[in-house]
Amino acid sequence: MNEINVAIIGCGGIASVHAERLIKIEGVRLKAFVDIDEKRAKSFSEKFGGHYYNSIDQLVKNEHIDALFITTPPFARGDEVKAIEKGIAVFFEKPVALNMRKAEEILDSIRRYSVINSVGYMWRYLDISSVAKEEVVKNSPTAMVLGQYIDPFWFPPKHWWLYKDKGGGQVVEQATHVFDLARYLEGEVSRVYAEIDNRIAGKFIYSDMTAEDSSIVSLRFKTGAVGVIVSSCVSQNTFTGTLLRLITRNIVVEHLGHSKILRIYEKNRIQEFRSPVDPYFEEDKVFIEAVKTGDTSKIKSSFEDAVKTLKITLAANESAKTGKAISLE
Ligand SMILES: NC(=O)c1ccc[n+]([C@@H]2O[C@H](COP(=O)([O-])OP(=O)(O)OC[C@H]3O[C@@H](n4cnc5c(N)ncnc54)[C@H](O)[C@@H]3O)[C@@H](O)[C@H]2O)c1
Repeated sequence: MNEINVAIIGCGGIASVHAERLIKIEGVRLKAFVDIDEKRAKSFSEKFGGHYYNSIDQLVKNEHIDALFITTPPFARGDEVKAIEKGIAVFFEKPVALNMRKAEEILDSIRRYSVINSVGYMWRYLDISSVAKEEVVKNSPTAMVLGQYIDPFWFPPKHWWLYKDKGGGQVVEQATHVFDLARYLEGEVSRVYAEIDNRIAGKFIYSDMTAEDSSIVSLRFKTGAVGVIVSSCVSQNTFTGTLLRLITRNIVVEHLGHSKILRIYEKNRIQEFRSPVDPYFEEDKVFIEAVKTGDTSKIKSSFEDAVKTLKITLAANESAKTGKAISLE
């Protein structure tokens, strides 16, 4: 298959990020755009070519496509099954869904129709993530995993992200990248305990906001390592930063996520690596290559794998609600 016909559903912010990269990949044709807000689909079609629709039903009825990018908000997931049933390869943005029932429903159909699939946990595609993984393995065991997702509050009023039933909250929607990287580097989690709250943003920024503005999530990994991932989105124009540190006896591995920096702290030495890789471009190229060749070996985040990250973050929400630790064994 030399020419790959691609459609995108959900023509918003991250859809642009993918479309701008997809047009640079040889053989890719952006054939169609779908959005419930037809104006948005139309503006993508004016910019990138291709047809536009306001539903996936119209897309599958009218177009022959090989791959679909799903860049809708988390609450809008599920309808993609209609494309999967046609044998279309699917690239999902994270988080894959807002609950396990929906995630498993989609996973079942991916398995049943054996479609190529990938999920946008883009940090996995950074060269520094492979270096980090090698170092963690070489220096195991890890004693502690320490993660952070601090974001400046940038959301306009009524944005879907502000509502927990639409975006899942900061842990499920945003800090998911740190949880996923922790799984990528340290492996599976067996127990989760969380304190999650909206202490300030719901009072002083938007009174109807239901997503949390601050959280701590304690983790026990199957390796035995203990971990904690903290997140906040409340502080405007002050500080922003994503990181994951893995602490072992001989080294500390520090992955700075969005900053694309890796530091390895050793006795008397700190090594720093700055990645030149565009992880969005990389994940798109790998996915398209898999669709072209059928070889999925370079895909670093499958739907099935991403469901495991979702499960941890949903367990954090459950723990915060019940006040109990949640076992994932
Ligand atoms: N990997 C990353 O770095 C990254 C960055 C940003 C967003 N994301 C993820 O991408 C997804 C989209 O986020 P965004 O910031 O681009 O959102 P957005 O609000 O900018 O865009 C979403 C688009 O989907 C459309 N839409 C909503 N419901 C729909 C439906 N049922 N059918 C078709 N279209 C529908 C909206 O009209 C909108 O145009 C989220 O899951 C988010 O977590 C990932």
